[in-house]
Amino acid sequence: MDASSQFYANHVRLLGKIWQPWTWKDFAATQQPAWDDAELASSVSQIGSLPPLVSADEIEQLRLKIGMASSGHAFILQGGDCAERFQDCNAEHISGRLKILMQMSLILGFGTKKPVIPIGRMAGQYAKPRSELIERTSDGQEINSFRGENINSFRVVADGRRPDAKRLLQAYHYSGATLNYIRTMMQNGFSDIRNLDSWKLESLKKDLSWARYEKIVSGLRDFFQFLDSMGTTVQGGSKAHQDSFYVSHEALVLPYEESMTRFVPSLGRWYNLGAHFLWIGDRTRQLDGAHLEYCRGIGNPIGVKLGMESDPYEICQVIQKLNPHCEPGKVTLITRLGAANVQRKLPVLIDAIKAQGLNVMWSVDPMHGNTERSLDGRKTRRLESIISEIESSFEIHKRLGTEIGGIHLEMTHEPVTECLGGAESIEPIHLNQRYETWCDPRLNGSQVLELAFRVAHMIRNS
Ligand code: PEP
Ligand code: CO
Repeated sequence: MDASSQFYANHVRLLGKIWQPWTWKDFAATQQPAWDDAELASSVSQIGSLPPLVSADEIEQLRLKIGMASSGHAFILQGGDCAERFQDCNAEHISGRLKILMQMSLILGFGTKKPVIPIGRMAGQYAKPRSELIERTSDGQEINSFRGENINSFRVVADGRRPDAKRLLQAYHYSGATLNYIRTMMQNGFSDIRNLDSWKLESLKKDLSWARYEKIVSGLRDFFQFLDSMGTTVQGGSKAHQDSFYVSHEALVLPYEESMTRFVPSLGRWYNLGAHFLWIGDRTRQLDGAHLEYCRGIGNPIGVKLGMESDPYEICQVIQKLNPHCEPGKVTLITRLGAANVQRKLPVLIDAIKAQGLNVMWSVDPMHGNTERSLDGRKTRRLESIISEIESSFEIHKRLGTEIGGIHLEMTHEPVTECLGGAESIEPIHLNQRYETWCDPRLNGSQVLELAFRVAHMIRNS
């Protein structure tokens, strides 16, 4: 190529006319670890030759469901750990996470009569963006921060915190094993509503919300017995509940995402076949940044986290870049503004997007804008602030004539003590009892059920 055509080619690429899975490299990529280049090249070339984890048909199905949610005909429940851990890739943890999402879907679906579509923050939610790249150890040493298990080790030792590209390959395998177990559970009818007894979690049986949950379950049990006695089946077989489960993670580590990007000839399009849904974090959604460049070329539905710094004008351009053909369900805006700010910021964002006539699904992440520090320095969140942000968001959307189509939560089925409040009245002094997260504080099983009943009520009134 001579100098002028080289110049032209670069110019066209920079203008964003040509997209390839690797064109993100021409743009500034924030939050990328300093890898050893040779190790990274070896890992991503191995991942690139391994089979996809999900199919493009499943991705398209999810996009359509998100489209339904954007017009109020379905509700998207996205939830899971802030930072998924390799050690949690086992039957107990995976089924526990599925059970709590199923219970929550049942409460929301029963309360609102809308289909609830669960999307796990799992099977790949390993990488974490960090505001502080350096951490000080108890003996005063400065080491790299933990950036997620696909990048470095959680252990507080300098060597363990070195970015290790072999971890990307491990992450691929752990994601695959997690998905494989999810699919096995689904194939065995786990999500079938007639199997709702198998969604029980022993740890929640004494919970105050459990009695309310059991009331729904026993009502449904009676209903099924009645149908059976009449020799009737629920229309469409017994699959009255979801028969699919979708997985998602933050599209943060771009070399990994690139290696999971495959061209699907039957659909004539590129997809990231490492997850159904990907989101761009609040720290990496720059209009001229590499994360947006990567995400604009793939067919997957994309979430964009919107924090207090979001500029409404820029966000409109982000949406147009991600979804130039206005496909329904393609872009989900996940607002994470905080209970104290939502009244001030959300209407501005909604008005700007409405004025441009852009088609988006609105979701609310009531976790990341409500993080505070306890006196002993632990990150925590109050259930009441979380619920208050959701409540205000419903109220604002209703007032402005838009729909909330989903929520995005950091949660676990386990009885951890990471967020304050709830029926068990978790106080700051209890945080040390079971504070197990490797990144942000999660709602525990009991807090999740309580929140689900409150949200069902809000959806009904929206
Ligand atoms: C997250 O979802 O864990 C996260 C880092 O969110 P945000 O990008 O909104 O801060
Ligand atoms: Co988080």
